[in-house]
Amino acid sequence: MAEDRIWREHMTGVLVAPKPRRTVNVDNVGNLSVGLMNATAIPDAYVQPEGLRPDVPYDGYSAETDQIPVVDLHNSSTGTVEERQRIINDIGYACKEWGFFQIHNHGVPNRLMQRLTELGTRFFQMPAAEKEKAAFGQVGYEGRHAYMPERVHWLETLALVTGPDPNLEDILRVTCADYREEFIATVNEYIHEIQKVGLVLLELMAESLALEKSFFSKHFEKYSTSVTRFNYYPPCPLPSVALGLFPHADPTCITILNQDDIGGLQIRKDGRWISVRPLKDTLVVNVGDCLQAWTNGHFKSVEHRAVLNSVKPRLSVAFFYSPYAQAVMTPPMKLVDESHPLLYRAFTWAEYFPRMQKRRMEGKVGIDTFMRLDHKEDSAI
Ligand code: OGA
Ligand code: NI
Repeated sequence: MAEDRIWREHMTGVLVAPKPRRTVNVDNVGNLSVGLMNATAIPDAYVQPEGLRPDVPYDGYSAETDQIPVVDLHNSSTGTVEERQRIINDIGYACKEWGFFQIHNHGVPNRLMQRLTELGTRFFQMPAAEKEKAAFGQVGYEGRHAYMPERVHWLETLALVTGPDPNLEDILRVTCADYREEFIATVNEYIHEIQKVGLVLLELMAESLALEKSFFSKHFEKYSTSVTRFNYYPPCPLPSVALGLFPHADPTCITILNQDDIGGLQIRKDGRWISVRPLKDTLVVNVGDCLQAWTNGHFKSVEHRAVLNSVKPRLSVAFFYSPYAQAVMTPPMKLVDESHPLLYRAFTWAEYFPRMQKRRMEGKVGIDTFMRLDHKEDSAI
């Protein structure tokens, strides 16, 4: 099918084989973490400039932490009209005011979330040489961040394309022989479940904007583009100068994050960093850049980062959910009026994503640089 082919070309031509721009030469982060256990210095490439260093520690919870919305999805399909409406209102408020929220009773079995975390951890605890067998440019394993210029984050990742043309079997085929089959089966089962949650969220989001329930979700059902990325943050001897993930906004429509109980995710609200508290059996959801544009700015894609600690490794699994590559994202007229003029031009994921990939992952730059109607295109990509 043409759509399928375009998507595959897009994914294979752009995501799988980027040109590495190695301007730093650093050891594998996993090795560094072990070798530098009690060190008082870390390689320069990991030392962030003053303005980027985390001013709030990974467990620095504040009053604002407890204001981050937590939505109970229990009654989203079976509840009364009033119960469902309450959930819709909560989600609308969360997407407009925070761009971030946590969900519980989401339907993904707890044992599956836990198993995914255990197997992911097992992967990262293998020797670097074993993990690096699964390094294929910007998919698969990455522990050196060869594509990042100058400064790098203290993080190992395992990125798997999970739809519509999954590559997880190809990536895992070369490594983790002892538990490969279970790993693949667990990721597949998880994707199946998390996609259901994604579709429910997209429906509730549409309804919160008084749009037809399937306004967004119909563009995801068949050929959604999804990438699942395991993020592993090894302990860092100097967590006050390094970062797990630089401040960024996700380019996707929505991201659903399954994290362990350590903590380290922080979001920026009104210029201040707020630590997100890990809550048992909950998932963190955030609005990405595309959904911000698609809703004409009614929903916010919010900057966030990951900070480190010196003692415990942390694992999170991010599910990045976007529509099929050729779906045109343009807001419905209902969301455009005198006080909300049209902010972004119409675009597709196939057009937006490669541009984002070429950019340095830093700050909230993407959507406003490339798609905003009143913004002159930045040529410095
Ligand atoms: C991401 C992300 C946060 C975390 O993967 O884009 O923001 O806490 N992760 O791992
Ligand atoms: Ni993110």
